[in-house]
Amino acid sequence: MKNLDFRSDTVTQPTEKMRQAMANAVVGDDVYGDDPTMNKLEMMAAEILGKEAALFVPSGHFGNQVSILTHTNRGNEIIVGHDAHIVWHEVGAAAVISGVQVRTIHTENGVVDLDELKGMIRGEDIHYPDTGLVCMENAHGTGKVVPLEHMKEVYEIAKNHGIPVHLDGARLFNAALALGVEAAELTQYCDSVNICLSKGLAAPVGSIVAGTKEFINKARKNRKLMGGGMRQVGILGAAGLIAMTDMVERLYIDHDNAKYLADRLKEIKGLSVLEDRLDINMVFFNATEEDFPEEKIVNGLFERNIKVNGIEGGEWRFVTNKDIEREDIDRLIIALKEILDK
Ligand SMILES: Cc1ncc(COP(=O)(O)O)c(C=O)c1O
Repeated sequence: MKNLDFRSDTVTQPTEKMRQAMANAVVGDDVYGDDPTMNKLEMMAAEILGKEAALFVPSGHFGNQVSILTHTNRGNEIIVGHDAHIVWHEVGAAAVISGVQVRTIHTENGVVDLDELKGMIRGEDIHYPDTGLVCMENAHGTGKVVPLEHMKEVYEIAKNHGIPVHLDGARLFNAALALGVEAAELTQYCDSVNICLSKGLAAPVGSIVAGTKEFINKARKNRKLMGGGMRQVGILGAAGLIAMTDMVERLYIDHDNAKYLADRLKEIKGLSVLEDRLDINMVFFNATEEDFPEEKIVNGLFERNIKVNGIEGGEWRFVTNKDIEREDIDRLIIALKEILDK
């Protein structure tokens, strides 16, 4: 029986083509700049993301943190959404690595109040830290995409104050697809962007940071500082190249499957699917413990070779990815009904 995993899109297996490309990759020492496969990936990524240069990093977390380190000085304040990955899921790294103070701004699925943002940017005062960076996240972790116009407004406010903007675009291509635009249309409203190759795009490892040549040169040195200089890393780059060329266009299948999954979940009594947050490949829903007992569901599915996460932040989240097909969703629904019947 096929193992199914609805916990995230980070669980995707590399494709057979990726495995072949990895096995045959022409590599060199990337710390010397000698890895042709990695050089090709970084050039291609910069072009697709509409930036001058790009840098491969081991993870999305690393990409965000090396960007923060590169943009800021110790003691700066950075403005980040209260529910951003950088705040919730990166182990407080901005404080440890960059020595910055994180100031959170309330977001509604990644969208901020523009007046509140303006008010948060520090003026000159002997008591104040300098505002060193504004961060955005698109697609947002709540499953929504941030409209292009809003990104532009945030970017303009930051620019007017001479503050750089970093975009956590772990799922940038999902966002671009949902908005019906090219990825570079989103990245025009940031100075640096982090995108993940290892989520819906199915590469086994890695993210890309992109920005100006000057920024990337500095980030390359900071990557080394953080212990992220890698040697024959073209082995990973080979999979990254396929992620960027072959795997972007198929993301609509994951989005369609998420809508199908949302529809099917409605068949289960007591589940309330958050349909206004169904922009990408994530389905969020609420249920009471009585209707949908957490331990029984997670364990019952596990026994049937289906992995799901339990409740986080009061919500359930099931994620579609390239290893999940329609019939797998049908199997999940049948399994849920079976477990709940008992
Ligand atoms: C929005 C967002 N940013 C950053 C990351 C970090 O990526 P990684 O798991 O590769 O460190 C994730 C991971 O899920 C994410 O969802």
